[in-house]
Amino acid sequence: MRTQDLDGPVEGGPAKPAEAAPKKIFVKTYGCQMNVYDSDRMVDVMAPHGYVETKSQDDADIVLLNTCHIRERAADKVYSELGRLRDLKEAQAAKGKKLVIGVAGCVAQAEGVEMQRRAPYVDMIVGPQTYHRLPELVTRADNGGPAQIETEFPVVDKFASLPAAEKRKTLARGPTAFLTIQEGCDKFCTFCVVPYTRGSEYSRPFARILEEARSLVDAGVREITLLGQNVNAFHGEDEAGSAGTLGGLIRALARIDGLERLRYTTSHPRDMDEALIAAHGDEQKLMPYLHLPVQSGSDRILDLMNRQHTADHYIRLIERIRVARPDIALSSDFIVGFPGETDADFEATLGLVREVGFVQAYTFKYSPRPGTPAAGHDNQIAEEVKVERLARLQGLIAEQQLAFNKSCAGRRLPVLFDRRGRTPTQLVGRSPFLQSVVLDNAPAHLFGQIAEVDIEEGFAMSLHGRLVKEEVFSA
Ligand code: 5AD
Ligand code: SF4
Repeated sequence: MRTQDLDGPVEGGPAKPAEAAPKKIFVKTYGCQMNVYDSDRMVDVMAPHGYVETKSQDDADIVLLNTCHIRERAADKVYSELGRLRDLKEAQAAKGKKLVIGVAGCVAQAEGVEMQRRAPYVDMIVGPQTYHRLPELVTRADNGGPAQIETEFPVVDKFASLPAAEKRKTLARGPTAFLTIQEGCDKFCTFCVVPYTRGSEYSRPFARILEEARSLVDAGVREITLLGQNVNAFHGEDEAGSAGTLGGLIRALARIDGLERLRYTTSHPRDMDEALIAAHGDEQKLMPYLHLPVQSGSDRILDLMNRQHTADHYIRLIERIRVARPDIALSSDFIVGFPGETDADFEATLGLVREVGFVQAYTFKYSPRPGTPAAGHDNQIAEEVKVERLARLQGLIAEQQLAFNKSCAGRRLPVLFDRRGRTPTQLVGRSPFLQSVVLDNAPAHLFGQIAEVDIEEGFAMSLHGRLVKEEVFSA
């Protein structure tokens, strides 16, 4: 992909700080956690230019859709949302107000010119690697300039162009936070658009990650989830100037006082190295929960997917991880109905789910993504077969999830309370195994703290418990 500047070079430079009332930016996020992280950064890059975030698109000066292209329906949703935004833009124009519409993220990256054709009222189209340039694109749109497409993969480090961590408006929104440490992917699974939309693998240096983590902790964060498309391929420059590992980074982060919990997502079985497995064994701050996508339990399908591992390789890997951390809870991603998937292949997937005992999983029907090798395979699976397989797989995973949650009854677990519940006296938190834990009659000051909870009952999607004693971890 490259920059498609439809009408000559950008003029006017970056937007100027507003002197009058702040302007408002509304960002709607689709897809993965990395998009959640990126959306916050988009608000951050506009803040020095006089923009504040709004939660309502009706009073916004800019509406940005941060999109996901991983599966078909996500892109469809973007186009129908754009239709509604066109009406809003017209209604605002009738009142004399200008609404700038932008599309960011992977649909923007993948569709570029096509989106310009289908939705010509969109003012800015920016890919995931170029959103730090939003201020100048907004200035140009404000000045009545034509639509702009900015989808190159620049040589400069996008992260280096973002405001420093401690200056970010959206730094911490609660006791848990995401932190992107790696982006892009070189694995080229045959179903996946990521290598094309997010580009090749890039890891941030330790120093920048540690600085961001410390700022998050100073702002009240207790748990950080490290993000990347293939986060365990992380190889950012470490403190000694060498290529680091995710295991090494986790150990460095664990030394930050006040940071109590670490997680990472999403990872690839091929990149689970010894250092990382060892960290699961002896780094107490690394939570005993691992999301490790396997996609299929059939070696034939895994090969067609270019996953570069077999089902047996995955199972042996899980055994090694369980030696290091016996109570680890495992989660995964699965695709059903990959081209050529037979009943026997699908049964192999069900077999793997039972054997590993996943307690959670994300399941998807295969969706042909334009430009990916598998989209061109001629043995595509009928929709009704995909629907049926998906339902069976989801049924099995739901059974295992319920059994795991029920097995937690009677256990005492440390819970980080990070959300309000349905009633005013309820708080909801996360167990080490990423389960939602609901507490009735919770003291309000528990929000943002870790406390011991006696689990009384496990349900399909949550645990209910009783407070034992408040255990506040402070720096
Ligand atoms: N069809 C269905 N699911 C997909 N995923 C990625 N690409 C596709 C596709 N073309 C799923 C994989 C991946 C998760 C993020 O999305 O399971 O791990
Ligand atoms: Fe996509 Fe993950 Fe495969 Fe990379 S490893 S190509 S992100 S599914």
